[in-house]
Amino acid sequence: MALRLSGSAFITGAGSGIGKSTALAFARHGVTKLALLDLNRDRLDDTQKLLRSHHPEIDTIILEGDASIESTVQNSIELAASKFERIDYAVNCAGINGPHVPSHELPLNEWQGVLDTNLTSVWLCQKYLIKQMLGQETRGVREGRGSIINVSSMFGRVSPPGVIPITPYATTKHAILGLTKADASTYGPLGIRINAICPGYVDTPMIQPVLQTGMLDPEFKSTPAGRVAMPEEISDAIIFLASPMASFMYGVALPVDGGYSL
Ligand SMILES: NC(=O)c1ccc[n+]([C@@H]2O[C@H](COP(=O)([O-])OP(=O)(O)OC[C@H]3O[C@@H](n4cnc5c(N)ncnc54)[C@H](O)[C@@H]3O)[C@@H](O)[C@H]2O)c1
Repeated sequence: MALRLSGSAFITGAGSGIGKSTALAFARHGVTKLALLDLNRDRLDDTQKLLRSHHPEIDTIILEGDASIESTVQNSIELAASKFERIDYAVNCAGINGPHVPSHELPLNEWQGVLDTNLTSVWLCQKYLIKQMLGQETRGVREGRGSIINVSSMFGRVSPPGVIPITPYATTKHAILGLTKADASTYGPLGIRINAICPGYVDTPMIQPVLQTGMLDPEFKSTPAGRVAMPEEISDAIIFLASPMASFMYGVALPVDGGYSL
């Protein structure tokens, strides 16, 4: 089977890094309708400009808003579905690194902030995407009603090193795997495939300031890949997992981490 997609996709965090690269990858593989949600309007405009320059046929909906606010998520998904008639693929990618503060010194509101942005946003998007997809006709056994990819992290599978105190981040990334598996079990039989991806270190604005210090060099130099990932290497795996090429995969936590978690 060739990796040729069609239809529409909804992507959060599409203004930067992995989300932006994923929007471009969907367009490259044949998706012509893209709904892009991000907090940052300028970044979204930049993604749209890039998409249009490479793929003038693309129809985009730009959604500026916070993916952890229920009304924003509901309105965004309903708008995308009404304009595009259905949502075939979705990638819940918006996230933050959060504070680098050990647990005994971490204020509750900062803990809560990371949970809202990284975890509640994924659940909210999943909730409204499932509502939408349940009402869509199936596109057959391999496409189903729709496919959702949640972006976790290698720190959703293994602990961050002790010198990087990002407990709320690691907690949310582990929890994303729980909500992916639970809803994959519930909605798989109804034609909706839900999976997660667990990237290693990726060269994006999220970690570029830390990369520039050289502090992470020993971390990734000791992996089989020996380097950080390019965003495209993560979005290629996302496209595969979303596509009918992965039609027998349900609730997986796919490591794309250069071997970090071996
Ligand atoms: N970069 C890495 O090394 C790495 C590794 C593993 C997992 N990840 C995960 O990949 C995802 C994307 O990260 P990235 O590296 O591309 O980061 P990034 O900072 O380049 O992009 C994240 C985007 O999400 C948006 N965003 C943040 N909070 C939001 C909210 N509440 N609502 C809507 N949009 C919001 C930001 O504006 C930004 O455009 C994150 O979930 C991150 O945890 C990144």
